[in-house]
Amino acid sequence: MLILGIESSCDETGVALYETDSGLLGHTVHSQVALHAEYGGVVPELASRDHIRRLLPMIRSLLLQHGCSVNDLGGIAYTQGPGLAGALLVGASVASALAYALSIRLVGIHHLEAHLLSPLLSSPAPDFPFVALLVSGGHTQLMAVKAAGDYELLGETRDDAAGEAFDKTAKLLGLPYPGGPALAQLAQSGNAARFRLPRPMLDQDNLDFSFSGLKTAVLTLTRQLGDGAAECSQQDKADIAAGFQEAIVDVLTSKCLRAINTTAMSQLVIAGGVGANRRLRSRIDAAASKAGFRVFYPPIELCTDNAAMVALAGAMRIKHGRTGACPFSARPRWDLDSLPAIT
Ligand code: KG4
Ligand code: ZN
Repeated sequence: MLILGIESSCDETGVALYETDSGLLGHTVHSQVALHAEYGGVVPELASRDHIRRLLPMIRSLLLQHGCSVNDLGGIAYTQGPGLAGALLVGASVASALAYALSIRLVGIHHLEAHLLSPLLSSPAPDFPFVALLVSGGHTQLMAVKAAGDYELLGETRDDAAGEAFDKTAKLLGLPYPGGPALAQLAQSGNAARFRLPRPMLDQDNLDFSFSGLKTAVLTLTRQLGDGAAECSQQDKADIAAGFQEAIVDVLTSKCLRAINTTAMSQLVIAGGVGANRRLRSRIDAAASKAGFRVFYPPIELCTDNAAMVALAGAMRIKHGRTGACPFSARPRWDLDSLPAIT
């Protein structure tokens, strides 16, 4: 069965075609980075309007590119939440209208479930169960993924998400939005050992995180070095970026190790935008080979928001008849552990 995936929860418009027997046919993503750049962050109303402009032409051209038409579709999966209400409603409306007109299956997907399942699009893929570190712009969570649809929250951030900390610190350093990739790039030319930034909650015997203090530590540092980041030299900023990245990566790596030990699971999955961070990947890989567990990442372009992961989650739910009641709706706030199991 051919499934159309639609992602519109924030500032990326994504469409994908997934064949339940043979896997992902293709996907495209339009990033709104240029649209929001001058505001230094996502403007929700602009995001919704851009999704409206892009979605149908993107669906048409993806179908055309793969020699398909809407009549070949057997189901549609869209991101139902969590996310920006207006942005979600665009995907929900298009998906619902198309599914109704074509009399095909419709499934609303939890955005974080899509991220959690995205490593299944890699080869080799993990088997259930596994521990997942979900590190996106809005979430930092450690989950025990016992089976598809069966998720237990092991720990999460008490304040800022890791991606949010990257973005806010990047802004402090005068880097353009979105800050995560820009800060990671600047860190490459920095000396991580020059400034020792705090490792929040590293020594606490739990699986929770706290990152908001880090950006305050960076602010204090820039004030000590000059009168804020504008006064710091390029090398100072690169050294701060490297020190900041190292602090976050240290905490994430050590909490992942702790989660593997407490659950006695042997596989770790890293999902979400911050999972694209190369320093995080190399530190996690080193920890895994030392401790003897396996790590899985989604393909790097599927770490950030995309519809391929939404189509995959939809295909799994449709295949097992676990689509739940799916009225035309968007769920800006939605608890992951309230989902019905898939298998
Ligand atoms: O998963 P995602 O695309 O969107 C959400 O669902 O939030 O994650 C976006 C987040 C942003 O905070 C972005 O700055 C961060 O992921 N990010 C990175 C990198 N690439 C994206 N953070 C650090 N290093 C990166 N290379
Ligand atoms: Zn996301």
